[in-house]
Amino acid sequence: MDPLIKKVVWFGAVYLFVATAAVGYIVLTGSFAGRGTGFDPATMARGQAHYVEHCARCHGANLEGQKGWETRRADGTVPAPPQDETGHTWQHPDRQIFDIIKLGGGIFSKRGERSEMPAYRESLSDPDIWAVIAFIKSTWPDEVRDRQMRANMLGGFEHH
Ligand code: HEC
Repeated sequence: MDPLIKKVVWFGAVYLFVATAAVGYIVLTGSFAGRGTGFDPATMARGQAHYVEHCARCHGANLEGQKGWETRRADGTVPAPPQDETGHTWQHPDRQIFDIIKLGGGIFSKRGERSEMPAYRESLSDPDIWAVIAFIKSTWPDEVRDRQMRANMLGGFEHH
């Protein structure tokens, strides 16, 4: 074989091997951002406790959100959307979900919109916020969790 072709074939083989190994690693370990929080029982319990204390009064005891959440009110606010898979939290990458909880809903509000989503930077530590997010995610079906994982990679979809 021509030495140059040999080189190209070798490079191709090595590249394929590395790429396959990398994808395999990511898939097998589920190590996309946010999966790192894991669904271990201690984190779940901690996340659920914070959810019940801080979030349930608006987002619902069963994460079902407030009635009519899809319709913006005349004053520019919206009712709290569900946190289960019927809402649109899963359309955001982890970083955006985290920022909304830490800094409040206002950070992504457009002109004419007002947010009643409070900021939790005073009352919840960063690990507490990740625990709440892990708890919320644990209620989603696998398929929705996978779609959100893709949102992580793409940087998220346009907010509604
Ligand atoms: C006072 C009511 C209220 C409380 C308490 C509250 N939220 Fe919200 N939240 C809202 C409203 C209203 C929105 C709708 C979006 C907006 O106006 O920015 C929202 C939006 C969100 C979103 C973005 C959803 C999306 O798809 O855009 C997340 C995530 C969220 N809240 C999580 C939480 C968590 C976690 C807690 C508890 C730590 C919490 N919220 C507590 C009212 C509340």
